[in-house]
Amino acid sequence: MVLTQYNYIIRKFNPNDLEAVIYINRTCLPENYSPSFFLEIYQNCPDGFLVAESENLSIVGYIMCRLELGFSEFKKLKLVKKGHIVSIAILPEFRRKGIAMELINKVLKFLNEKKIDECFLEVRTTNEPAINLYKKLGFSIVRTIPGYYLDGTDAYIMAMELHKT
Ligand code: ACO
Ligand code: ZN
Repeated sequence: MVLTQYNYIIRKFNPNDLEAVIYINRTCLPENYSPSFFLEIYQNCPDGFLVAESENLSIVGYIMCRLELGFSEFKKLKLVKKGHIVSIAILPEFRRKGIAMELINKVLKFLNEKKIDECFLEVRTTNEPAINLYKKLGFSIVRTIPGYYLDGTDAYIMAMELHKT
């Protein structure tokens, strides 16, 4: 039998997944964190930390998110509840299958249910795949932070409004 379609499930992260998530983070991104940072993010928002697991039970992608209070990206001087997508990555062999879209959509659904006002993230201004992905999901570029990354690259802040009151 030939498997023509790749199968995976999306489920919540649990601390046993930490090593796999760190491996994916180091393979895919220059922004790397200590194990305790991942666990702090998990404790801040366990429902916003998801993994994509393949048929053979290996983890191929993750998303992690933090809940914050801060000034709105859309309404002047208004304090709002924000979901901050801190990091998302999919192993190279598993890209362009819609896994990142599904991870973000699940997080957005959860943030909406929690009545969080906005979702935002930082992304390298040179990271075209990620910028396209976020635009496709309804994020827009709200501002640029010059020299945000350690190598001097600028960041876009991309954000979207969630449930409207
Ligand atoms: N080129 C152009 N557009 C792309 C690309 C690409 N290489 N990859 C994704 N997109 C856009 C397309 O519009 C795509 O839809 P389509 O396939 O129907 O054309 C849409 O995004 C959805 O793509 P997915 O298949 O859901 O995305 P994927 O699962 O491949 O993951 C990701 C995208 C996370 C950016 C992946 O390429 C990756 O892990 N990159 C390295 C790590 C990274 O850059 N992470 C984001 C950093 S910013 C942050 O973490 C907040
Ligand atoms: Zn961030």
